[in-house]
Amino acid sequence: MQIYLDSANLDDVKKANDLGVLDGVTTNPSLIAKEGVPYTKRLAEICKVVSGPVSAEVIATDFDGMLREGLEHSTIAPQIVVKLPSTLDGLKACKAFSDRGIKTNLTLCFQPLQAMMVAKAGAFLVSPFIGRLDDIGQDGMQLIRDIRQVYDNYNMKTLILAASVRHSNHLLHCALSGADVATCPLKVITDAMKHPLTDKGIEIFLADYKKAFG
Ligand code: G3P
Repeated sequence: MQIYLDSANLDDVKKANDLGVLDGVTTNPSLIAKEGVPYTKRLAEICKVVSGPVSAEVIATDFDGMLREGLEHSTIAPQIVVKLPSTLDGLKACKAFSDRGIKTNLTLCFQPLQAMMVAKAGAFLVSPFIGRLDDIGQDGMQLIRDIRQVYDNYNMKTLILAASVRHSNHLLHCALSGADVATCPLKVITDAMKHPLTDKGIEIFLADYKKAFG
């Protein structure tokens, strides 16, 4: 499974990239707003650090606005993926971008039919939000499994990018459920390499070595 960083924080992007296993980055208007820097500037900075796809979300909610903003984003760097909401206007914009050979990420996907529709429109990525479904008492991971089944039934090529991944148990179950990509905050990525018995084991090995060899 590919791993993307879900952040617009440049230090986090550099730290995640230094781990050597980062496949891409996703941003959204909330994440960029937290940083207090102009959107385009930050996207360009991220694209200088990572070589994989970088999702840049549009603010517009109408087809014409999405097209205009997405085309602007796509000039920032070759790896920019235009992120669009999973709405009817987003669907039309998705088709218009894929006809132009521009990759898209259809975000805010909360049910499998949205994923089926955007795959028909040529989406490169679809972003089902696991955590936000869990937040309202639904089973976010079931959405990943359902989309996987729909895509496999019809050999649909859109990549399932699990989003709103909040902890390492989510990340594990994304991998078990057949997500193609999971986008996570830095902590979830680093937590994937942590176990108390690993730390304890290192302590024991070092203590034994010191006892024997000083
Ligand atoms: O990038 C979208 C998504 O990952 C947001 O996650 O935690 O705000 O639901 P969250």
